[in-house]
Amino acid sequence: MRRLSVKLADRSYSIVIGERALDRLPDELSSLAPTRLLIVSDQNVAPRYAAALARKLAALAPVTTKVLHAGESSKTLATVEQVLDALFECSADRKSMVVALGGGVIGDVAGFAASIFMRGIRFVQVPTTLLAQVDSSVGGKTGVNHAAGKNLIGSFHQPSLVVADTATLTSLPTRELSAGLAEVIKHGLLADEHYFELVESRMSDLLACDAGLLEDIVARSCEIKADIVARDERESGERALLNLGHTFGHAIEALAGFGTWLHGEAVGCGLCLAADLSRRLDLLGGADVDRIEHAVARARLPTRIGGLGRSDALRAMAGDKKAEAGEVRFILLERIGRAVQRRVPADALDATLRAGGYT
Ligand SMILES: NC(=O)c1ccc[n+]([C@@H]2O[C@H](COP(=O)([O-])OP(=O)(O)OC[C@H]3O[C@@H](n4cnc5c(N)ncnc54)[C@H](O)[C@@H]3O)[C@@H](O)[C@H]2O)c1
Ligand SMILES: [Zn+2]
Repeated sequence: MRRLSVKLADRSYSIVIGERALDRLPDELSSLAPTRLLIVSDQNVAPRYAAALARKLAALAPVTTKVLHAGESSKTLATVEQVLDALFECSADRKSMVVALGGGVIGDVAGFAASIFMRGIRFVQVPTTLLAQVDSSVGGKTGVNHAAGKNLIGSFHQPSLVVADTATLTSLPTRELSAGLAEVIKHGLLADEHYFELVESRMSDLLACDAGLLEDIVARSCEIKADIVARDERESGERALLNLGHTFGHAIEALAGFGTWLHGEAVGCGLCLAADLSRRLDLLGGADVDRIEHAVARARLPTRIGGLGRSDALRAMAGDKKAEAGEVRFILLERIGRAVQRRVPADALDATLRAGGYT
């Protein structure tokens, strides 16, 4: 069992990682003294884990469970309202807590609902996908999509605790495991060359769900993210580096229709596009671009998603949250293990999109 901490003064919290970490949740939560608990989960996760979790938590406070539809299509304001309704129905008060049991979709929706219920109540992240364990459960970004784009409605609301039980990953479909590896590759690329090498060399063990290795990976990715978040919680600078591959990725998700490509799949492809763009700006060598594409492909993720339009992609990227006054800044790679934020000339961007199969 590992314990990390996200150091954010009075909003600091622990991340507990390991096989059967869920067994520790009641003890971890008891000092937070919740008056009521609402477990928010989805149709795939709830039947496997919600009842056992509710039983474990029942000694602490009355527990209610709210089950949402699975998948990206649940990241809407309407779903947030369903969670708020459930909180009122179970007579939650300002000392009650939300337990987000599921992947990144559940964490983002339940966390956002917690952030606005009675102007904000505490919540716990219990991530059950690799993507959520290595990335989305840490850092306090919560929110939903809008027709205008991905994650455009939301808030910063840090959890009070994160418990990542790696045993839950054994029931995860392989496509979802691959999607999580996109964020793992991203962490290596932007912050730690040795970590990238480890992930690259152990990809087949990761895809085979090697328990010890998964625990190491979840811990190292959380550490990388927690350190960056501790230095720049509200993304006024360094935290933007965590968006490597995401300006492209968010555009792919929105243009193809939310849910067509998994977030991690769009990010995997986005990492390849970001590498290609870095090469065009003379930041990164061709061999490194090939190495990155190879790692993404070995994780069984798409390196190219064709059939999308260049002008649509440019419009979507200009509407991304990271754009200011319509100008998009990209996160690029200076080398494997080091990312930078740059403005990008239109011709280089256009060439990358063409090379990436955009029409
Ligand atoms: N807040 C952040 O900082 C942040 C960071 C990265 C990604 N995200 C968001 O996270 C979302 C993607 O998260 P995700 O990939 O976890 O998607 P997800 O929540 O849709 O989960 C993926 C699928 O796996 C199923 N599932 C979850 N756990 C399972 C388990 N243990 N066994 C079997 N099935 C299981 C779910 O029901 C779902 O069908 C995106 O919306 C993305 O924008 C947020
Ligand atoms: Zn992401």
